[in-house]
Amino acid sequence: MRIVMTGATSGIGLEAANALIIIPGVSLVIGARRPESLPAALIGRVTALPLDLDNLDSVTQFASDVAALGPIDAVIGNAGIQIVSPQRSAQGFERCFAVNHLAHYLLVRRLLPHIAKNGRIILTSSGTHDPDRSTGIPPPRHAKAEWLAFPDRDPAADPSPGLAGRRAYSTSKLCNLMTIRELPRRSGDRPDLTVLAFDPGFVPGTGLARDYGPMIRWLFRRILPIVVRGENVSTAKASGRALAALAKDSGFAGGRGLYWSMTRRRPVVRTPSTLARDDAACAALWEDSATLVGLVP
Ligand SMILES: NC(=O)c1ccc[n+]([C@@H]2O[C@H](COP(=O)([O-])OP(=O)(O)OC[C@H]3O[C@@H](n4cnc5c(N)ncnc54)[C@H](OP(=O)(O)O)[C@@H]3O)[C@@H](O)[C@H]2O)c1
Repeated sequence: MRIVMTGATSGIGLEAANALIIIPGVSLVIGARRPESLPAALIGRVTALPLDLDNLDSVTQFASDVAALGPIDAVIGNAGIQIVSPQRSAQGFERCFAVNHLAHYLLVRRLLPHIAKNGRIILTSSGTHDPDRSTGIPPPRHAKAEWLAFPDRDPAADPSPGLAGRRAYSTSKLCNLMTIRELPRRSGDRPDLTVLAFDPGFVPGTGLARDYGPMIRWLFRRILPIVVRGENVSTAKASGRALAALAKDSGFAGGRGLYWSMTRRRPVVRTPSTLARDDAACAALWEDSATLVGLVP
C-alpha cells in the first residue's frame, strides 16, 4: 500500500508518519523541503522526494516523480503554514493561500489519475475555518480566489499584517474543506474514492507558530501544551494517529466529502461552516484555483 504525504517532517504529520511506517505493507512516500535531512525516526523508513509547496513547479515535479513509482493508495495533504508578515510564493501569490491551498489543490489534481481503485484523498483543514467556533484566529470572510491570491485587490483586506496573515490561514483551511467538498463532483468517474477533510483540533507544541515572535513561539511550543484544556485541544500524537487512521483504517473508507474533527482527542464527523457548504462558492473556488495553477477546471 503506497501512501503519499506532505508535511510529514514535523508536528502532527510526523506523528502520522510514525504511525504509518510501522504498519506492515505500508510504503510511505513523503514530499520534503530537505529530503537529505529528515527527522531521525523517518531515516531509511520512507521514500523522501523533494517538494517545496511554495513553488508550483516543484509540486508538478513531485507529482511526476511520485506517479513514476506506481499506483497510489492514499494521498495525505497535511503540510501547512501560518504566517504573520506579508509573504509571496514563487509565483507571486499570497504565501499561506499558495502553500496551504493552491499547492495541495494542484497536487491532488496531478495525482488523481494515479490513485488506485478505492484510494483515499485527505486534506488537513482546521476548525479556524468556522466563524461559529471561537479559536482565537480571525475567521474567513470570503473564499474569492483572486482576492486571496492577491490581497491588495481585496477592498476589505485587513490593514494589519498579523491580522491579515492569521485570516489568510483560516481562509486557506476553508479552501481545503471546499476542495474536499467539490472533489467528488469533479471526479464523478471515480465513485470508489474516499475524500476526507481533517481538523486535528488545537495542537500546541508543533512548529506551526514558527513565523511568530520569540515569546509566542515559546508559549506555543512549551507552555500551551501544558496549560490549555478543552474538548477541541489535542496532541500531535493523538491527531497524528487519527490522521494515519483516516488514510488506512477500513472504518474511514467510503466517505465522500466528510469532515472529521478531533473532539476529546478522537475524530468525529462535524458539519463544516456555512461557507464551506456553499456549493456555488466551492465550484467557483475550484475553477478559479485551476486558472491560478494553470489547469483547466
Ligand atoms: N497545530 C495546530 O494547532 C493545528 C490546528 C489545526 C490545523 N493544523 C494543521 O495541521 C497541519 C500540520 O501542522 P502542524 O501543527 O503539525 O505544524 P508543523 O509542525 O509546522 O508542520 C508543518 C509541516 O508542513 C511542512 N511544510 C511547511 N511549508 C512547506 C513547504 N513550503 N513545502 C513543503 N512542506 C512544507 C513542514 O515541513 P518542514 O519540516 O520543512 O518545515 C512540516 O512538515 C497544517 O496543515 C496545519 O494547518 C494545525
